[in-house]
Amino acid sequence: MSNNVRKAVIPAAGLGTRFLPVTKSMPKEMLPIIDKPVIHYVVEEAADSGIDDILLITGRGKRAIEDYFDDAPELRMHLERHGKSRELDALNEISRFSGIHFVRQREPKGLGDAVLYAEKHCEGEPFAVLLGDDIMKDHIPCTKQLIDVFNKTGSSVIAIQEVPTEQLNRYGIVSGKECGKNLLLLDDIVEKPRPNDAPSNFSSIGRYIFTPAIFSCLKRTTKGAGGEVQLTDAIRLLIKKEDVYAYVYQGKRFDTGDKLGYIETIIEYALDDEAMKAPLQAFLKRA
Ligand code: G1P
Repeated sequence: MSNNVRKAVIPAAGLGTRFLPVTKSMPKEMLPIIDKPVIHYVVEEAADSGIDDILLITGRGKRAIEDYFDDAPELRMHLERHGKSRELDALNEISRFSGIHFVRQREPKGLGDAVLYAEKHCEGEPFAVLLGDDIMKDHIPCTKQLIDVFNKTGSSVIAIQEVPTEQLNRYGIVSGKECGKNLLLLDDIVEKPRPNDAPSNFSSIGRYIFTPAIFSCLKRTTKGAGGEVQLTDAIRLLIKKEDVYAYVYQGKRFDTGDKLGYIETIIEYALDDEAMKAPLQAFLKRA
């Protein structure tokens, strides 16, 4: 057993109702950001944070995610035979993620219930959680930044950012005391509060490092906001047991589970592409 963060858990079992009808037959995590699905960026963040053991929690109708990370020997052979080296490089971008495991949530009972499926896999070690539809963009991966905080404190830590008041009811909202640069020691967290009940404007943004104590808290957590077992409610119990920190992430965050957020993500990554940048900027100016 190790006290280093060597494992990541990526819940990707949500129904994607905000993106119906396309999500009727396609997992929301497979929506493309140009030529890679959203989940690719999330797995890449874990890998770039030094984690090569990744557990994806999926559910019914999510087989496309497993196929995406599987080997494709026929396709590979076809590309090799036709000398398509650029396309082979694109395939290799996936095959570098070799330590991916899958488990299925049997019923969509909520994020907290999904994370509980990871207990056996985590084997009593601290682990990272990356939500499957948030993409983070920074020169140091967000999860790596959280691991650095964990390595100093030895305590659970969650990434937060300030959000406008009208968006407080979409997130887990924290309260705590400042205890260092960009660091809070938490005293509470509330899932999707009404703006008047929100303890601050700092929201959890879908990146966490947990000590294994989160699992006993998850087991004690009953249905909360939206009739679902909420990870936030388990964190609330964890705060009562041990120190939990929040780290104010300074990089960019994209919520691809939201239609506008999804379009913004595509534009952001298209503007990073040398060939697309100028024509896209010209198009946006005309639009
Ligand atoms: C989930 C969490 C919430 C968190 C948010 C970040 O909400 O329950 O605490 O702030 O992710 O994206 P969801 O987006 O599943 O409604």
